[in-house]
Amino acid sequence: MPDSSTPPRTIRLADYRLPDFLIDAVDLAFDLREDGATVTSRLTMRRNPATSDPAAPLVLDGQDLKLTGIALDGEALGANRYTVDAEHLTVTDLPGVFTLDITTEIAPQQNTTMQGLYTSGGNFCTQCEAEGFRHITYYLDRPDILARYTTTIVADKAKYPVLLSNGNPVETTDLGGGRHRAKWEDPFPKPSYLFALVAGDLVAVEDSFTTRSGRDIALKIFTRRGDHTKVDHAMRALKASMAWDEQVYGFEYDLDLFMIVAVSDFNMGAMENKGLNIFNTALVLASRETATDGDFQRVESVVAHEYFHNWTGNRITCRDWFQLSLKEGLTVFRDQEFSGDMNSRPVQRITDVRRLRAIQFPEDGGPIAHPIRPESYIEINNFYTPTVYEKGAEVIRMIHTLIGPERYRKGMDLYVARHDGQAATCENFVAAMEDASGTDLKLFRRWYSQAGTPEIVVEDSWDDAAGRYSLTLRQSTGPTPGQPDKQPLHIPFALGLLDAQGRDLPVRLAGEAAPAAGTRVLSLTAAEQRFDFDGLAARPVPSLFRGFSAPIKLAPQPRDRLAFLFAHDSDPFNRWEAGQQLATQLLLEGVAARKAGQDWRLDAEFVAAIGRLLDDPALDAAFIAEATALPGESFLADQMRVIDVEGIHAVREAARLAVATALRDRLLAVYRANDDHGPFDVSAAAVGKRALKNAALSYLGLLRDDAEATALVLAQARGAQTMTDVLAALTVLRDRDIPERAQVLQDFYDRWQDEPLVIDKWFALQATSSLPGTLDAIRALTRHPAFTLRNPNRARALISSLAMGNPLHFHAADGAGYAFLADQVLALNAANPQLAARILVPLGRWQRHDPGRQAAMQAQLDRILAAPDLSRDVYEIAAKSRA
Ligand code: TRP
Ligand code: ZN
Repeated sequence: MPDSSTPPRTIRLADYRLPDFLIDAVDLAFDLREDGATVTSRLTMRRNPATSDPAAPLVLDGQDLKLTGIALDGEALGANRYTVDAEHLTVTDLPGVFTLDITTEIAPQQNTTMQGLYTSGGNFCTQCEAEGFRHITYYLDRPDILARYTTTIVADKAKYPVLLSNGNPVETTDLGGGRHRAKWEDPFPKPSYLFALVAGDLVAVEDSFTTRSGRDIALKIFTRRGDHTKVDHAMRALKASMAWDEQVYGFEYDLDLFMIVAVSDFNMGAMENKGLNIFNTALVLASRETATDGDFQRVESVVAHEYFHNWTGNRITCRDWFQLSLKEGLTVFRDQEFSGDMNSRPVQRITDVRRLRAIQFPEDGGPIAHPIRPESYIEINNFYTPTVYEKGAEVIRMIHTLIGPERYRKGMDLYVARHDGQAATCENFVAAMEDASGTDLKLFRRWYSQAGTPEIVVEDSWDDAAGRYSLTLRQSTGPTPGQPDKQPLHIPFALGLLDAQGRDLPVRLAGEAAPAAGTRVLSLTAAEQRFDFDGLAARPVPSLFRGFSAPIKLAPQPRDRLAFLFAHDSDPFNRWEAGQQLATQLLLEGVAARKAGQDWRLDAEFVAAIGRLLDDPALDAAFIAEATALPGESFLADQMRVIDVEGIHAVREAARLAVATALRDRLLAVYRANDDHGPFDVSAAAVGKRALKNAALSYLGLLRDDAEATALVLAQARGAQTMTDVLAALTVLRDRDIPERAQVLQDFYDRWQDEPLVIDKWFALQATSSLPGTLDAIRALTRHPAFTLRNPNRARALISSLAMGNPLHFHAADGAGYAFLADQVLALNAANPQLAARILVPLGRWQRHDPGRQAAMQAQLDRILAAPDLSRDVYEIAAKSRA
């Protein structure tokens, strides 16, 4: 925790300096006890030949440490040779080459921050990214210091039979007196943020993978006893990831052992520590009874993500934390592509774009907007953001789209050839892509430095005499904090042209020979640019930015065009998108009408189009489920200049009811046709059927007076065999004020009270209800015996579910939702600043609310800023949100 008397300092990319010292080797020894831990560290160091000051002192990072010993080349250091402050250990008069022995005492059992060494469920574990290692021992805790680690762990043998660290096990010894020792050695130099240690009473599920060069890799997933029955899916995903990375990128695993440990107290999803990934239980454990299909897919993608980091992150790491997207954006792109290959590719793209729009677009339009390579930060933990991750992935995807898969692969090969074993920059990555592809990416680099979501307006014209169709595109990006003026970006523009029957035509630029029919990737590089297309017999229908070829906002398009594309586009993403855009226009019209006191009904043509999709045999079930769902309340809010919270909810619900009423019999037929009781699996086909069945159920559940529909919902809530189905039914009941609701919820709790991840769903479900009185119910749930702010999953299940998943109640006009959130932020500020800052983010999004809500949100930000002993994390988000 930072000293509360020092004002938070801003760290700047422009201030990056090479380190004055290098660390070649680290020997760590941990003595783990019930009253704390002793850490001894031997650092083998030398002055950095690349820096110039031969007299520079050594400044090691360290926080919350008790220094009990320090020796230089084996001799205890005199007190005049070093100083200690709250964040550093400084040693002067050092030779060119030396060893430093440092002993520190730490208190893992008291560590509630979940950074550094801490305990979870009675086991020891670590989280060192970004700057956790400095809570373990004094060190050059920065990612450009790469060292070889050996780690010795001593602990009670009965309590902690499993002792793990990075790399390969070299020995285990019984020390007598009930204690034992294990030693690990990691042959690959690594930054401190990839260090990991686990000590606990864990069971392992084991498997193996043979690499393409014939090496056998032992795979182990460790969980607490009882949870080992839920790791099959993670293990399958791990093996599939290993095979995929060999096939698609030529990346083979490099150690002989790969381990995953599941812990229930974890601030984020998972962590890619070398050879020893540590996972939030929520992202490893999955069984049909306890996990939804969405959970299964997240497990698969996060297992892949962390595994993929072994090359993109670990072998090639980041020079400094401003380069975070170098590993995160790239690795998210890789896991998205993997998931696309494992599941339905179009539905994967839809899911990823939905997520980008739900979490990244609001960030890019709000007070903490930043480029994917930020220029400054107060607390790096605050920059593990949707922008760095999800927009970062879109930036890599755009390079892939612009240069094509073969040249992209050549670029990756060159990137690895140049930088394996190094700490690199985003510039290094782009340079490798540029050099290998021969494509000029000079202008493209602006995506790394410019924040904000570009908005694009497209106009078209048709010259019948010349058979020429023209598209004029204009791009602009609004101001973001610190960046008032924006420049044009290099935007990949994937275009299709359709004839009147919906068939793809060749997209032929004026003067060219005709290419094959289908999507064409063009480059938009100016503020305004015109494209002329020749060889057309009649005016075509344009399908713009197919596959969401760039993270942009496209201005509303003519309705007849959207309706046509919704019925015909061969690009499945754009077909879905056309439906969403059309629905958005209709619903926003409804919101405006409601506000003006006018009648409004959902367009019957649109309802009919949904009806035609429902049982189109040519379409994949998962796709139909996506295409027949209306855009969410947050997405709609994001399209309004001044958000009408109640209007959006009321109109969207009315529209959903209109669909349900008009299509009742077809929905029921779809439900029955997709209600499969065969053996459970999570194949794309089976998942798609459940998704479509439950999409139908979510409509049918709105028919309050329909006894058959209600009976269906209740039967599914009580008797379904998968969590996917149970939760889909509970989600209907969540919003229905019927007598059975309370009993069904209570039965669910009683059945699952010993499964924390399921109880998280129980909290989240209630926190997202639209029923009146929901905020009171949430307040009461904070006093439920199973509720605790100290477990991040539980805290998020109740609090972030309200703030991010329940706009109606979070944005209640009386400001009670805001006050509730601020209470929780203040309650968490000291114990877990990283989590406190994260749950606070939605309170900063006041800019497009009405004056009353703006004032209420700002008042809560002021209240937080006035609190004593604010953590750097919370201070940074609150201060930037208030500005
Ligand atoms: N590198 C991790 C990932 O994306 C992110 C992460 C896990 C993290 N735990 C963290 C970041 C704690 C900051 C703090 O895969
Ligand atoms: Zn990552």
